[in-house]
This record gives sequence, C-alpha cells and structure tokens, in this order.
Amino acid sequence: MAPTLPLLLALVALVIPGPGGAQVSIHPIEAFLLMGASMQVNCSSSCTENLNLGLETQWPKREVESGLRWKLFELSDIEEDSKPLCFETCGSIQSSASATIILYSFPERVELDPLPTWQQVGKNLTLRCLVDGGTPQHQLSVMLLREEEVLYRQPVDVDPKNPKEITATVLVSRDDHEANFSCRTELDLRPQGLALFTNVSMTRQLRAFDLPVTIPKLDTSDLLEVGTKQKVLCSLEGLFPASEAQISLELGGYTLTSKSTNHRDLVSAMALVEVTAELEGTQQLLCVLKLADQTLRAERILNIYSFPAPALTQSQPNVSEGSQVTVSCEARDGAQVVNLTSVPSIQPRPPSPKVQHTLTARARDNKRRFSCSAALNVAGQVLFKTRTLELQVLYGPYLDESDCPTNWPWEVGTQQTLKCEARGNPPPTLNCSRKGDGAPLPIGVVKPVTWAMNGTYVCHAESSHGNVTRDVFLMVYTETNLTLIIILVTMLAIVVIITAAMYFYNRQRKIKIYKLQRAQEEAMKLKAQAPPP
Ligand SMILES: *[C@@H]1O[C@H](CO)[C@@H](O)[C@H](O)[C@H]1NC(C)=O
Ligand SMILES: *[C@@H]1O[C@H](CO)[C@@H](O)[C@H](O)[C@H]1NC(C)=O
Ligand SMILES: *[C@@H]1O[C@H](CO)[C@@H](O)[C@H](O)[C@H]1NC(C)=O
Ligand SMILES: *[C@@H]1O[C@H](CO)[C@@H](O)[C@H](O)[C@H]1NC(C)=O
Ligand SMILES: *[C@@H]1O[C@H](CO)[C@@H](O)[C@H](O)[C@H]1NC(C)=O
Ligand SMILES: *[C@@H]1O[C@H](CO)[C@@H](O)[C@H](O)[C@H]1NC(C)=O
Ligand SMILES: *[C@@H]1O[C@H](CO)[C@@H](O)[C@H](O)[C@H]1NC(C)=O
Ligand SMILES: *[C@@H]1O[C@H](CO)[C@@H](O)[C@H](O)[C@H]1NC(C)=O
Ligand SMILES: *[C@@H]1O[C@H](CO)[C@@H](O)[C@H](O)[C@H]1NC(C)=O
Repeated sequence: MAPTLPLLLALVALVIPGPGGAQVSIHPIEAFLLMGASMQVNCSSSCTENLNLGLETQWPKREVESGLRWKLFELSDIEEDSKPLCFETCGSIQSSASATIILYSFPERVELDPLPTWQQVGKNLTLRCLVDGGTPQHQLSVMLLREEEVLYRQPVDVDPKNPKEITATVLVSRDDHEANFSCRTELDLRPQGLALFTNVSMTRQLRAFDLPVTIPKLDTSDLLEVGTKQKVLCSLEGLFPASEAQISLELGGYTLTSKSTNHRDLVSAMALVEVTAELEGTQQLLCVLKLADQTLRAERILNIYSFPAPALTQSQPNVSEGSQVTVSCEARDGAQVVNLTSVPSIQPRPPSPKVQHTLTARARDNKRRFSCSAALNVAGQVLFKTRTLELQVLYGPYLDESDCPTNWPWEVGTQQTLKCEARGNPPPTLNCSRKGDGAPLPIGVVKPVTWAMNGTYVCHAESSHGNVTRDVFLMVYTETNLTLIIILVTMLAIVVIITAAMYFYNRQRKIKIYKLQRAQEEAMKLKAQAPPP
C-alpha cells in the first residue's frame, strides 16, 4: 500500500501545483551513487500554512534533522536506480517533487572460461568471458585480450542478460603458444566526473601445438644380422613445440634405450640395437611420437637373421713344395651353398654346402688366394659372405742359373751389374764369398770393375727349409791384352799358311822336273829299239 500512495500523490502534484506558488523542493535533484550506498535528501517547502512534509522511497529512510520548512532524510542500502519523492500538504493543497538516483556498480565477476589443455595451430579457439553485474550498463564494456592486445571489444548495453556472455574466435598460430589471454571490463564513469574503472579476469595461458599430417620417418635397414649393432633412427619434422614432443622406439615389444633430440621443429630418436640371437626372425619396430594429446606411430617389420661366415681351411698349416694340400670351403649354417674360387681359377663345382680343392703344391702356388663365398636368402634378398685365404707353400731355397748366373766376364774399368738372388719361402739368406780369402761378391752395380774382384766365389743360400750352394766365376780381363793375342795368333797363322804354301809349291815343281826326265829317257829308249830304216 505504501508505494502506491506516493505515486498517486506524484500524479496529483504534477497536475495541481501548490497554492499561491507554494512548492515543495528536493535536494539533491540528481544523485550518482555506488550501489548499496546511503545518501541524504533534504525536502523543503515554501508553504506558509500548516505544513505536512514527507519523503516517499522504497529504501530504508531515517529523519536526520528538520527545520521549520524542511526535513533532512537519510536513505540507506540503495540497490536500484530510483526516484525518491518529497511531498507536502500545504493547507489542503498537495504537491511533490522527485529526485533521480542513478547507481553504479563494479562487475562482481569477470571470468574467462578455461582454455583447452592443448589447442591445435590453424584451428579456431573460442574465448568466452562471463561478466556478472556492473552498472550503468551503457557505460560498461567488455574486451578479450591476448597479453595487452584487444582481440574483441563489446559494449554490454546491447545485452541485457545477466550474467553477460562475450565470445571471440581466434585463429591460433604458433605465436600463441604460451600467450596469456584475459578478459577485462571497463566502467567509464568519467561523464559523471569519476574515473575509468577496470576489472580483469584471471589470465589463462594457452598451449598451442602443431603436427604435420605425415607419420614419423623410420630410418633403418630391414635386414639385421645377429651379432651386429644396428642404428635405428626415427624422426619427424614440422612439429611444434618440438621441445614438448616425446619420441620412443620399441622393438619386439620392448622399449629401446634411445637418445632423442629436439631441435627447432624437428624431433628425432636414435637407438643402437644390439642384435641378439633371441631376436632372430621377424620383429616389429615401432616409433611412437607423443605431442599434446596426439600420438603418431610409424612401424616397420625387420628381418633378423644369423649368418656365420663360411669356413675356409687348408688341410695342413705348412705346405712344402710337392706335397698335397686340400683347401675346403664349408658353409656353417644349414641351407647355404658355397663357391670356392681362386686365381688361377679352378674347376667350378655344383652348388653344395661344402666344396674342396686338392692340389700338389708348387712354388708358384705360394701366396695363391682362395676365396670362399656363401649365400643366404633372407626375406627374398640374397646375402653373401666371403672368406679369403692365402696359401703358404714352403720351397727353396733356389739359386738357379736364372737366379744367379755362373759366368761374369768383366772388362776391367767398366761398369757392370751383377745379379744374384735366392728364391724361396721362407725368404732365404744369401752369402757369397770368394774362395780363399772370403771377400764378398760385389752384387749390384759395380763401378768400376777392378782386378781385385777377379776370382771364384761361393754363394750359399739358406732358409729354415734348406740350403743350397753355387759357384760364381768373376773373370776380369783387359781388352788390349786380348787384341795382342789375336794379332799374334793371326800372324802365326799367316806364317804357317805361307810356309805350307811354299813347301807344296816346291814339291810340285820337283815332281814336274822328274816326270820330264822320265819322258825324255823313254823317248830315247824307243828311238834305240826302233829298227833302222
Ligand atoms: C534544507 O533546505 C532548506 C531550504 O533550502 C535549508 O534552509 C536548510 O538549511 C537545509 N537543511 C540542511 C541540513 O542542509
Ligand atoms: C572491480 O574494480 C573495482 C575498482 O577498480 C574494485 O573496487 C572491485 O573490487 C573490483 N571488483 C572485483 C570483482 O574485482
Ligand atoms: C575460424 O573462424 C572464422 C570466423 O570466425 C572463419 O572464417 C574461419 O573459416 C574459421 N577457420 C577455421 C579453420 O575453422
Ligand atoms: C604469461 O604469464 C606468465 C606468468 O603468469 C609469464 O611467465 C609468461 O611469460 C607470460 N607469457 C607471455 C607470452 O608473456
Ligand atoms: C709352420 O710354419 C711356421 C712359420 O711359418 C713355423 O713357426 C712352424 O713351426 C711350422 N710348422 C711346421 C709343422 O712345420
Ligand atoms: C657361385 O657362383 C655362381 C656363378 O658365378 C653364382 O651365381 C652364385 O651366386 C655363387 N654363389 C655364391 C654362394 O657365391
Ligand atoms: C758369409 O760367409 C763367410 C765365410 O763363410 C762368413 O765369414 C760370413 O760371416 C758370412 N756372412 C754372413 C752374413 O752370413
Ligand atoms: C781370375 O780368376 C780365374 C778363376 O776364376 C783364374 O783362373 C784366373 O787366373 C784369374 N785371373 C787373374 C788375372 O788373376
Ligand atoms: C745344408 O743342407 C744339408 C742337407 O741338405 C745339411 O747336411 C747341412 O748341414 C746344411 N748346411 C747348413 C749350413 O745348414
């Protein structure tokens, strides 16, 4: 009943002014207050008659003071904008006056919704801010901020809802990682002579991530041999933030101890796999990369095999020249076949797990290389393993005419080269000394040849495999001596020939004379015997 009466009175007052200009007035006529505050209102009148003065308001009121024609009231706990009304009854005439109380209040709540734990780069993020309270609404605005940058600003008077909800969409980039977002209200009371009041929400930090659409790259050989160490590498480029990524490697269900590096936008893990016999067969290699709430996997099937090299042996360790030796090449694991080759080549054999070659060792077979290769098929790929052997044949020592020529006719004063080398395995030692005085044989380049070198030398070659001896004749001569001899011999020959020729000539002449005498005697005899005519 109480609020309706003053309203009625107010209507009446508007229509009928007080008698003789007697009027009620209110002070202040306008007030701008913080919500919940108190204020004093002075109702006064110019009425000279019987005065009945009062204040009509919905707020708790108290008469503080009064004068002859005025009354001072205190209103408290003012919660809404309102218009208190002073009314009077001056004689029989009623009149009233109202004041305007406008309230302001700060928002009670400014709250930014929690952000997702991880936000993918390149996707839209919706920021939502709730603002509760805050008046006058047309002087209140809300903004969403990234650090100090205003992303979105909105006056709230358009939205009479309470609490008010403000949203903004942000296309998230890598730069937004660890950026702080917040919501801020501004209550601009400067038109009322007050300040600009801000209220800020709690900041929320964004965690942004970026992942490429590809899966991690696994770098490894598909074939792993038991007993080896194999490097396995898994890497992925283009992710962000690389420092937050976790990468691990698993082989056959077991996590490998790996060393991972995060650099710029690249993450990689490297593990050294000790390939053991237990792993033989096929095994799955897995690379798992975790970033934010995402998991990427890459897998490979590895073939783990065991392949011992073939055995290449010779029947006895030391082979003497002329003895028989067998070289065998043998596979050391089931289904393999081997080839035995050599230079000079040997007869090829049909594929089998064991191949043998028997030969009679010759000096030229020393250092002959044999190679034995085995093949193994692993998952369609043929792998080879080869062993080589160098045959050692013990021979010699040899000191033949070709190794050490016997005759060396040397002209004194000339330059000569003497060659004398013993052959054999093990390499023999050679010692040549002159018969008689034991002077050494001048092997190699001799410059110049002297008479002192003349003589018969004995060369002795010796090794653990035997010894051999050879004589070397070093004959030193002079060219001039020889010429003299030749001239003398030639002259002697000429003398002999001339003498012989003269002898024969004389003999022939004597025979002719004798024959002539005989012919004359015969003729005389015939003349004598003839009958006289
Ligand atoms: C109330 O108003 C009247 C008239 O203007 C004035 O005389 C009086 O002093 C005021 N009272 C107070 C407490 O200000
Ligand atoms: C809002 O700001 C005002 C002054 O700036 C302050 O008095 C008030 O307590 C703040 N409100 C909240 C909820 O923080
Ligand atoms: C993000 O939102 C904007 C509008 O706010 C829209 O134009 C754009 O297509 C959206 N992008 C994505 C990736 O959703
Ligand atoms: C965000 O705020 C935290 C402390 O709350 C601060 O350590 C960090 O540096 C801020 N981020 C940026 C990008 O300024
Ligand atoms: C075989 O030769 C080596 C040196 O090449 C030697 O030490 C070893 O005694 C020899 N063995 C036989 C049985 O001759
Ligand atoms: C043996 O030799 C043949 C012919 O040269 C070749 O095809 C084969 O792969 C070889 N096998 C091995 C085990 O080396
Ligand atoms: C070579 O033989 C001579 C005589 O037989 C000997 O005095 C000398 O020490 C030997 N030299 C070497 C290197 O064996
Ligand atoms: C040179 O040595 C040979 C034996 O090798 C010998 O017959 C000859 O008389 C020697 N000549 C000289 C000039 O000493
Ligand atoms: C040389 O070999 C023979 C047997 O062929 C042996 O009797 C002799 O002792 C050996 N001489 C040396 C110096 O080794």
